[in-house]
Amino acid sequence: MAVCLGIAILAGAVETNAAPIVIRFSHVVAEDTPKGKGALLFKQLVEERLGDLVKVEVFPNSSLYGDADELAALRDNKVQLLAPSLAKFETYTHQLRVFDLPFLFDDLEAVDRFQKRAKGRQLLYSMEQHYILGLGYWHNGMKQLSATRALRLPADAAGLNFRIQQSDVLETQFRQVKAQTTRLAFSQVFEALASGQVQGAENPWSNLYSQRFHEVQPYITETNHGVLDYMLVTNARFWYAIPHRIRTQLEAIIDEVSYAVNREAAQLNEQDRQRVAASGRSQIISLSPREREAWRAAMEPVWRHFEADIGPDVLKAARASNRREE
Ligand code: SIN
Repeated sequence: MAVCLGIAILAGAVETNAAPIVIRFSHVVAEDTPKGKGALLFKQLVEERLGDLVKVEVFPNSSLYGDADELAALRDNKVQLLAPSLAKFETYTHQLRVFDLPFLFDDLEAVDRFQKRAKGRQLLYSMEQHYILGLGYWHNGMKQLSATRALRLPADAAGLNFRIQQSDVLETQFRQVKAQTTRLAFSQVFEALASGQVQGAENPWSNLYSQRFHEVQPYITETNHGVLDYMLVTNARFWYAIPHRIRTQLEAIIDEVSYAVNREAAQLNEQDRQRVAASGRSQIISLSPREREAWRAAMEPVWRHFEADIGPDVLKAARASNRREE
């Protein structure tokens, strides 16, 4: 909070600026996905309501910055809004690792409850000392495993090399099933799968379909084993320098957009699941309860490995979100 107060003092200086405030919003996915649509809705509402005061430029598909450089660009104020997947903040906080733990959240509703409750809200401020400020959470969806062979039981994954995001938790998760991992930026995944550099990946349906991963992965197992969600982040120095009356309107727009993204994400993923099924390019494998339990049993030890690092209080709150009542 000290960071916020210090920066707030600067705000008065910016207030007199007549030029419009420019917000560059960079992201790595296609426009027809929960995040892509959210970025465009934010731009539309800002233009409608803040007219000449604020200009928003959206750069999808890693066209401005990609996974490797987008957070550094945010800290240098070369870009002012990002929504990286929650697995991509490792350098700045380990608390967000909670979102990568396999089989922790029963479903997206549980994730939603955790993000709305006190501990989840606190995590928006977990990177303040790096001047990275969380403005909200956006859903994508639960992840599915895809591969060059049918994965029904954990032993089927042994020896395969899976593409992962920059995440120690995800590396450990695949090690539990005796698979290898390669960390790659999202923009490199299609080529890596197509060339055989890696043989598997984990993605929600919207990313699978929009990036055409299903065209180079003949099997997709519906595991729903973890979540791929986003934190909408800004540069705290930039944000608190925006005049108060404009900033509060921007925050109200962000709340509205977050509500819309989070309401529609599950539906978009279901639509893309159906498109993948209709394409006939990839076989979708549903697990029996016994098979799913085998994956859960194999991967759950990862929780213990990371509990101290994440914080037992955060893990406890995340587990409690599987219950509707607090
Ligand atoms: C994203 O949805 O932003 C990309 C996630 C990934 O790198 O797998």
